Amino acid sequence: MKFEVLTLFPEMIGQAVRTSVTGRAVKNGLITVDPVNIRDFSCNRHMRVDDYPYGGGAGMVMEPEPVFRAVAEAKRRAGENTRVIYLTPQAEVLTQTKVEEFAGESALILLCGHYEGIDERVLAETVTDYVSIGDYVLTGGELGALVLIDAVSRFVPGVLGNNESAYFESLQDNLLEYPHYTRPETWHGKKVPEILLSGDHGRVEEWRHGQSLIRTKERRPDLLRKFRRIHTIWYGAPEAGEAAEALTGALSRFGIVENYNRKTLQKRKNSLTGQDLLVLVSGRTGGDDPGAAARFRNLSGARTSFFLFADETAEDDGAAGILQSRGFCLRGADRMNFSFRSDDAVRKAALAIRNELDNMAD
Ligand code: ADE
Repeated sequence: MKFEVLTLFPEMIGQAVRTSVTGRAVKNGLITVDPVNIRDFSCNRHMRVDDYPYGGGAGMVMEPEPVFRAVAEAKRRAGENTRVIYLTPQAEVLTQTKVEEFAGESALILLCGHYEGIDERVLAETVTDYVSIGDYVLTGGELGALVLIDAVSRFVPGVLGNNESAYFESLQDNLLEYPHYTRPETWHGKKVPEILLSGDHGRVEEWRHGQSLIRTKERRPDLLRKFRRIHTIWYGAPEAGEAAEALTGALSRFGIVENYNRKTLQKRKNSLTGQDLLVLVSGRTGGDDPGAAARFRNLSGARTSFFLFADETAEDDGAAGILQSRGFCLRGADRMNFSFRSDDAVRKAALAIRNELDNMAD
């Protein structure tokens, strides 16, 4: 992953990315971070890049031409179609979903402003994305660029250690992390919760999920409104099962995956709530297929949102219509095709779902 950072303070970028996890990633050649000094593209011999604002008022404005030339240089290095992200408080605040979307690119150009801002005309001509890192005003975009580089780099394969995964982040679920403990077992008279010493993996996961919910409710109730329990149902060829597992894992650490080829599941009453999200993954079915109406006769929703993904080779069995008649609301396109064999397709499908969920919550 390549980051080109357009800035008046290149040393600030260089210093910060050379430490810690991003430092290791740079050293291992997994990411490159190249500052481009906007001052090098100044149009006058004093190397000035700012001027007084038309219409008067306090502060200075960055001139359009040096910024334009700096962007052109960054595009020459990173590719003509590279997204140009302007860090500014006048934008939507960066989210984990957006970070993941940016991580799907092979290069990004980050434009850092200073003074009162940058001439509007060059922004209109060059910028593809506007990003804020929070509702407060910083002295420049560099800290924002560093935040974005750090968060995006975590998704670059190899940047995190083997046991860590950027996808297993609870924020992916719109939940805060559960509390963590390490040795000693008793510290300042405070004991580690008993359940964590039990060795019962299932109960530990359940406890952690509960703690995440409690913590989110206390500290970020706004996030809790966005939380959806992922419930994935698959049927047809076994590849659909593998895709369902991968997609669920990319979406949530608390997801449930069920194989609806199984008669026992088709017979069992399964009522989902409005806080659930149903993801249906349909593969190619054989000659003894019972059909969607029979398969889902015991499945019901309560205005539960659902997404339907189908392998290219799967026939349309009318599942979307059946589910809509059983209390589910279709989100996204009807029967989104995706190749069950491609990791990239799974990643994109997860992103499409998360984007839709973020929009629904707004
Ligand atoms: N530049 C100044 N303030 C900023 C913010 N909050 N986010 C991103 N860039 C900025």
